[in-house]
Amino acid sequence: MRPRYQSLIASLALLSSFTDIAFAFPPYQSLGGLSEHELRNAVRALDPTLPGIPPGPLKNNGTKLVYDWLHPFLPPGPLDIRGPCPGLNTLANHGHLPRNGIATPAQIINAVMEGFNMEVGTARFVTYAAFVVDGNPITDLLSIGRKSILTGVLPEPAIVGGLNTHGVFEGDASTTRLDAYFGDNFSLNDDLWNQYIEYSNRLGDGYYNLTVAQELRHRRNTQSIAENPEFDFTSPRYFTAFAESTFPYVFFIDGRVPIGPGGLGVGRGLHVSNATSFFKDNRFPKDFWRPPTPSVPTGIVQVFTAHPIPPGRNQGAVNTYTPDPTSGSFTNFCALYYNFLNITLNRLYPNPTGILRRNLAINLRYLYENLPSLPGQTDTCTELFPYGQPPV
Ligand code: HEM
Repeated sequence: MRPRYQSLIASLALLSSFTDIAFAFPPYQSLGGLSEHELRNAVRALDPTLPGIPPGPLKNNGTKLVYDWLHPFLPPGPLDIRGPCPGLNTLANHGHLPRNGIATPAQIINAVMEGFNMEVGTARFVTYAAFVVDGNPITDLLSIGRKSILTGVLPEPAIVGGLNTHGVFEGDASTTRLDAYFGDNFSLNDDLWNQYIEYSNRLGDGYYNLTVAQELRHRRNTQSIAENPEFDFTSPRYFTAFAESTFPYVFFIDGRVPIGPGGLGVGRGLHVSNATSFFKDNRFPKDFWRPPTPSVPTGIVQVFTAHPIPPGRNQGAVNTYTPDPTSGSFTNFCALYYNFLNITLNRLYPNPTGILRRNLAINLRYLYENLPSLPGQTDTCTELFPYGQPPV
């Protein structure tokens, strides 16, 4: 073959490999918010699967060593994804979750039960709530964030998806992460971390407990009102913020430490050295044992009632916080579920068809079934079927 044609063929081959990259769609990338055209192309490029069955409770559900020889700590590699949740990051760094940070809902539910003894209904509820807005319902995969060592080095796809996606599950006023308005909403922020330590030392004698959670949640809420013109504190973030404030004293304490007479979060707490291991290194403390019984986040309502604030948002300027009576609240739990489907999810998937619609309907059933597991929830909410009944 003449050299001129050889080089033409080589150029075409190169072009076609770029075209492949352009059309490749990461199987863990969220499909939410894509146009109908983008959605069609993405679905065509993916291998569809049926949603996995939600796992049942642990058979042996007591405390046990979870930093064992089968689960050594390994820092994430350059392509491994980590995100805003110190719990899931830790599970991935120990191989309780796939180390690349991409997992099915069933893998996440199993991992949070196995590694932190999270009660099965809570584990399912949190996971499906995150999955329907942040995951890929066609492939049944979710990325636990976006950060890899290469973040910012390689060009990134326009829509990344994953747990750090702002405003659908991840939200403002996190204890240790910046509001998305200020940029990176998934990495530990040093100033916020110093604030966490300062509050634990001053109010908890070196421990994070219910009192610290109450005051630090209030501090983060008032900080965001005063600093973030786009601060949004409506459901679902309104609930997850109060819930996540309790997670450290429920799940990050070694299961062999006796619970004091006041119960979880009272009279005992999470020592700053162990908090540092989880939050800064995303690593179980040496010889860590999980909580002694299947655990739910206790104290959510107490964190709220210490400094009540209605759901609401700033109006494009700081200190303009205005309540939103249509958002779910502590006195209207079902509105959390209804708004999540009618507003948040509808914005992401206004008109899904085919396998996407079927899989969304199945995942929504899993979410609804576990609604009664929401701590403090006693209302009976009517099931909604925005994408039709799931197949039986
Ligand atoms: C028992 C298991 C878990 C523990 C111990 C845990 C722990 C935490 C903690 C302490 C935070 C607050 C970080 C901060 O405010 O600075 C957090 C945030 C978060 N967690 Fe988890 N988590 C667990 C399970 C899950 C599950 C199952 C999901 C979803 C599949 C999840 C998704 C998230 C997300 C998206 C955030 C960020 C929220 C935000 O900053 O707006 N977590 N987690």
